[in-house]
Amino acid sequence: MKTRVIVLDRKDLKREQFSEAARLLKRGELVAFPTETVYGLGGNALDPKASEKIYAAKGRPSDNPLIVHIADVNDLAKLAEDIPECAYRLAKRFWPGPMTMILKKRDIVPKETTGGLDTVAIRFPSDKIARMMIEESGLFIAAPSANASGRPSPTNADHVYEDLNGRIPMILDGGPVQIGLESTIIDLTGEKPLILRPGYITAEQLREILPDAAYDPAILAEKPSEALHPKAPGMKYRHYAPKGQLTIYEGTLADVTQAVRAAAEEKKAQGFQVAILASEETKGCYEGFPVCSLGSRDDEDAVAAHLFDTLREFDHMGADYIFGECFRSEGVGSAIMNRLLKAAGYHIVRV
Ligand code: TXA
Ligand code: MG
Repeated sequence: MKTRVIVLDRKDLKREQFSEAARLLKRGELVAFPTETVYGLGGNALDPKASEKIYAAKGRPSDNPLIVHIADVNDLAKLAEDIPECAYRLAKRFWPGPMTMILKKRDIVPKETTGGLDTVAIRFPSDKIARMMIEESGLFIAAPSANASGRPSPTNADHVYEDLNGRIPMILDGGPVQIGLESTIIDLTGEKPLILRPGYITAEQLREILPDAAYDPAILAEKPSEALHPKAPGMKYRHYAPKGQLTIYEGTLADVTQAVRAAAEEKKAQGFQVAILASEETKGCYEGFPVCSLGSRDDEDAVAAHLFDTLREFDHMGADYIFGECFRSEGVGSAIMNRLLKAAGYHIVRV
């Protein structure tokens, strides 16, 4: 299959530029598109065959449910039932935007889309291209991140092309995304609201509306364990991983830079290709090694925006071993560290 890339100018978007994408989606085909968080791989959420195509294109296990994207809050009640009143308060505060709610699904949402669950994940993205595409199609759009399963989520159209060229008919290229981390997921179907995946909307922000919102204990665990099953099936899979082995060092910045340098020197001496994941403040500590900086430690938005691109960059560099610094884990940092530790397969060294 030939993959067409449609380059869109965000300053000059016209409805007719979406007609081809809308036609494909209505025919049950897939279209990759930008959202403010990461690029998504979209298909008709109410068409079980379209969902099956999404799983096949990504190579994703079909027990891992998809997020359904809407472009109008009123559509919430078309997809979900027994909606608690707090869902509308969350929607009012955080939608359109990087928050996904888990609710009890209505019968029209096929089990193929929800990975066999009787709940459904719903998000109203703020990205203009995403919204116009959804509106033009007149559909609800099921969309996981548009990466091949296990790889870092795509933050620009080149990443999507790298993973899915030849497997999908169309990519809408809206340039680099704004945030670079996937949405925060909050489950409203249990006794207490549970945060299933940390994201750009922080736990502190959610607690302004839901004071008793807590993290799913499984995602706070340092290592995935048999005893703790994450409630979001996707959080249990190995994810975001570069091909080389990434190890994250935790401790004071002085100790961390020293330990990273020593580890890199050791592997280099053994003949391996090494690379270092650092920050603007520390990149000067690693002279003689290939270094990727995520940005300044004071600018979490920049760190978030560069994370997945940098993880892909290590593959292009052919790194066998990657040694990385830890980052602050408060606020948006909790999402950054969550993705970094998953990418490292929980290889952490405390110094
Ligand atoms: O920012 C985002 O959320 C992006 C963009 C494209 O919107 N999408 C995204 O989708 O990250 P995906 O498929 O890569 O991640 C969806 C996560 C998975 O961990 C999945 O297990 C979880 O949401 N999920 C979906 N439906 C669920 C449900 N009914 N119950 C629990 N977890 C669910
Ligand atoms: Mg994903």
